[in-house]
Amino acid sequence: MSANKKLLMLPGDGIGPEVMNQVKRVIDWMDKTRHVSFDIAEDLVGGCAYDAHGTSLTDNTLADAMAVDAVLLGAVGGPKWDNVERDRRPEAGLLKLRKEMDLFANLRPATVFPALAEASSLKTELVSGLDILIVRELTGGVYFGAPRGIEDLGNGQKRAVDTQVYTTSEIDRVCRAAFDLARKRQSRVTSVEKANVMETGVLWREVATQTHADGYGDIILNHMYADNCAMQLVRDPKQFDVIVTDNLFGDVLSDCAAMLTGSLGMLPSASLGAADESGRRKAMYEPVHGTAPDIAGQDKANPLAMILSYAMCLRYSFDMIEDADMVEKAVETVLDCGLRTGDIMQPGMTLVSCQAMGEAVTAEMDKLAG
Ligand code: IPM
Ligand code: MG
Repeated sequence: MSANKKLLMLPGDGIGPEVMNQVKRVIDWMDKTRHVSFDIAEDLVGGCAYDAHGTSLTDNTLADAMAVDAVLLGAVGGPKWDNVERDRRPEAGLLKLRKEMDLFANLRPATVFPALAEASSLKTELVSGLDILIVRELTGGVYFGAPRGIEDLGNGQKRAVDTQVYTTSEIDRVCRAAFDLARKRQSRVTSVEKANVMETGVLWREVATQTHADGYGDIILNHMYADNCAMQLVRDPKQFDVIVTDNLFGDVLSDCAAMLTGSLGMLPSASLGAADESGRRKAMYEPVHGTAPDIAGQDKANPLAMILSYAMCLRYSFDMIEDADMVEKAVETVLDCGLRTGDIMQPGMTLVSCQAMGEAVTAEMDKLAG
C-alpha cells in the first residue's frame, strides 16, 4: 500500500481562495467517486501570509512545501501590499518557493478549446486547434541574478541594476525537459533568446544546440529571437509546438500565448524540479492568471485554470492520466454547453458564477464516470 498522496494547498490572495474552493470540490468528487484520497494541508502564502506573519512565506510553510508530493497554488499579490518592501512582498514568497524547491521547468500549455476559439482576440482560423507548450526556465536569469539593487548616486540621480545570468547546466536541464516533452507531442522545439544582443543569449543558443546534439536527433530544433517570437505568436501561432526560453522572456511570451486562447483565466501551469532517485519530482501547480483584485470575493472568477492546474498535477505528479484526461474533458464539455464566466463571456452564452462553473465541472465528471 502506498502512502496517501500529499498535497499542500496555498490559495493565496484575491481570487486565489475562491478558485481553489472549486478544486476542493473536484478533489471531494474524486474522493467519493474514485476512492482516491489525498492528504491535504492548507496554508498561507503571499499577502495574506504577510498580514498574518509579516512575511509572505514562513519557514514552516516552505518546509511543508518541500515535503509534500505537490503544491497547489492560487495566486499572490494585490494593491494592498504595493508599498511593502521587496523581500516581504507577496511575489517574493512565490519566487522563494520556486527557487528553494528548485522548480526550474515551468510548463505553460496554451491550448484553445474549440468552444472558445471565437473568444480569442485573433481571427478564429489562426487559433482554432492551437496547442503550444511554453517551457519557461523558472529559477534563474534576471529574476534572481546578482548584483541587483538601486543605488543613490547622491546628485539627485539613482542607478538601478538587474543581472541576467545563466550557466551551462541551467540551460541544459531546461532544454532537456523541453526536448523530452516535445517527444510526446510534435517533436518540434523553438529555443528563444536574444543572441543578437545578449551574452546569455549567445550561451543559451550554444547550449541548446549542444544538448540537442546529445541524443535528441529525433527532435527538430529551431532558434528564434524573442522579439520575433512575440511577433510570430500573434501572426501565426500554430507554427509552434514547444517553445523553450528563459525566465523573463518566458514570463512575457506566456502571457501573450495565454491571451491567444481567449482568456488568462483558462491557462494552467506546472513547475517541476529534477527527478530524484525514485523518479519523484518536487512540483507546484498554479494558474497563469493573477489575483484579479477587482473581482475578488464576488464569485465571478474563472476557476478553470485552477482546475486544469489540478489536472496537470494528476498527470505529472501522480501519473493519473485517465483522471487528468477526465477532468480536462469535463472542462471542455462544460464550455461546449455554453457555460461562461465573465472573462470568457460571449453573446448567446450562459453567464455563470465561479461556484456554478465548479459545480458544472463535477456534474460533467459524474456523467463521464457513469
Ligand atoms: C507569473 C507571474 C510572476 C512572475 C509574478 C507574480 C512574480 O507574472 O507567474 O508569470 O513574474 O513570474
Ligand atoms: Mg507572468
